[in-house]
Amino acid sequence: MSAQAKTRRLTAVDIAGRKGGDKIVSLTAYHAHTAGIVDQYCDFILVGDSLGMVMHGLETTVPVTLEMMILQGHAVMRGSTKALVVVDMPFGSYEESPEQAFRNASRILKETMAGAIKMEGGTHMAETTAFLVQRGIPVMGHVGLTPQAVNTMGGFRVQGRGDEGQAVVEADARAISDAGAFAIVMEGIIEPVARRITESIPTVTIGIGASPACDGQILVLEDMLGLNDWVPKFVKKFGSLRDHIEDSVKAYTEAVRDGSFPGPDHVYKPKKD
Ligand code: KIV
Repeated sequence: MSAQAKTRRLTAVDIAGRKGGDKIVSLTAYHAHTAGIVDQYCDFILVGDSLGMVMHGLETTVPVTLEMMILQGHAVMRGSTKALVVVDMPFGSYEESPEQAFRNASRILKETMAGAIKMEGGTHMAETTAFLVQRGIPVMGHVGLTPQAVNTMGGFRVQGRGDEGQAVVEADARAISDAGAFAIVMEGIIEPVARRITESIPTVTIGIGASPACDGQILVLEDMLGLNDWVPKFVKKFGSLRDHIEDSVKAYTEAVRDGSFPGPDHVYKPKKD
């Protein structure tokens, strides 16, 4: 039996079929070990370009490269067996033309073996989305607050406010749905708009700061684990990893300094003849 046949991973088609059904649950992961934990509980794992901010301390996701995404995509695929793995297309790797997007998306799928890619953008990315889907690349869309557009949005701002804002977000979601995306991340969108979109398009919606009205939810793992002091309003800290890491680091440094570590249990002894 081949390795692939032993465990059947969820696919983009499985996720698309969950519209209106059980909630779809997702987290980001960038490493094999966290992917292994997330894999046991989530339907899909996103290798988000948020890794630039979370792992590398960048101020935005704009400097993230294709090579960074492929490297961490590999790690997450190695650490997981069941969940669909979706890898973000970084800024500059898909916006120029459908051909550029296909070239880089196919590189991601071939080199990581992930099951889908995610691209940010609404109506202006519909043609590219259709181009990729028609050529065998499952696409997850991302509308509303699109962090890669931080420089034109003037900051990370909630979307869908006012008549014009609502119309833009709704048109964006509809265009990406019509183009054949299997799911759409809706980020930073006010609740009534997120609800209306979810109820009116056939594509599953995955909310992050877009209310419980969506078909599923996603958070950045490190945010909900409490690794960062500050988190946006829409994040609930389900853990306090920062305190836990700090306590452990402090205990280790104290133990080395006071001579209690390494203790007898941590020392290799010569073999007895
Ligand atoms: O990069 C990322 O982690 C994302 C999520 C916030 C949806 O796109």
